[in-house]
Parts: sequence; structure tokens; C-alpha cells
Amino acid sequence: MNEQLKYGVADNTFQAVGGQPGVTQLVGHFYDIMSSEQEYLGIWNLHPKGNVESRDRLARFLCAWMGGPRLYKEKYGPISIPGVHAHLTIGEYERDQWLACMHKALLIMDYDQALVDYLMRQLAVPAERIFQRCQKALTDK
Ligand code: HEM
Repeated sequence: MNEQLKYGVADNTFQAVGGQPGVTQLVGHFYDIMSSEQEYLGIWNLHPKGNVESRDRLARFLCAWMGGPRLYKEKYGPISIPGVHAHLTIGEYERDQWLACMHKALLIMDYDQALVDYLMRQLAVPAERIFQRCQKALTDK
């Protein structure tokens, strides 16, 4: 089946990752890896420690982003992804670290390679927007 059709339509991506439990597990791996592996220390250091909502916020956001229920909006209200990152120093290095960490988390989930490839391509889009926004915030200062 055409990959774009398979994953880009309705809630197909959300279903393919295992719905809300799957997204929650994925985000759990993402945070566990980021907080424990030396190579992600740079992006881990950007995260406020002891924020018990961080995992919940990312997981809820990704549910809707994958075509599932709007769980972030339901609990936390509207969000602009570049906006919530604008105060952070995110360069190419941090952007790529975030994506690499998510890639590792996706591989632990044992998804189809086509799904992993699709998600990595799609995640690169907001990651790039965040990077551009943070660069702009720096040059506007
Ligand atoms: C480009 C590299 C990225 C870095 C370095 C980064 C870093 C961060 C940091 C430090 C926070 C604050 C966490 C906290 O308050 O505990 C955050 C929040 C968040 N990030 Fe990212 N992030 C990146 C990319 C992304 C992408 C691509 C997405 C979505 C696909 C995303 C979604 C979120 C969400 C939903 C939140 C919670 C925002 C809120 O409710 O305040 N991030 N990120």
C-alpha cells in the first residue's frame, strides 16, 4: 500500500503506533533515553527538572499530531509548537539530537520500518520549524 495513504490518512498513524498506550510508551522511552544517555545531555539540560507534566504534555500533543484525539487541547488548551520552544536555545545540533533520540525510542517500539521512516520524515518538519523560530528569536534579540 502507498505509504502516504497508509499513514497520512484519518487516524491511521495513531492506530499504527498503538493508540494512546503506544504513544505514552514511546514518549516514556524518549524521556528515559534522553535523561540517561550521555549523548543527549545537551537537550536534556534544556528540560526543567522535576516537571511531572513533561511526558504527559508531549504524549498528549503527539496523539492529535498523529490524527488521534485532541488530548493536549482538552487538558492544557491551544498550543503553538514553535511558540512554546521560542525561549530555548535550539540550534541544528539540538534539533538533530531530539530527532536522534526519538528515532532510538521508535526503534525500541519495534514498529514497521516504513512507519519509523514515515514518522521521522514527519517529525523533521516541526523540528525544523522550531529550529528556525529559535534562530529568529536569537537574531531579533
Ligand atoms: C527540535 C528539538 C526540540 C527540543 C530541543 C525540544 C525541547 C523541549 C523542551 C526543553 C521542552 C520543555 C519541557 C518541559 O517544560 O518540561 C519542550 C516541550 C515540548 N515539546 Fe519540544 N523540543 C524539540 C522538538 C519538539 C518537537 C518536534 C515536538 C513535536 C512534534 C515537540 C513537542 C513539545 C511539546 C508538546 C512540549 C510541551 C509544551 C508545553 O506544554 O509547554 N518538541 N520541548
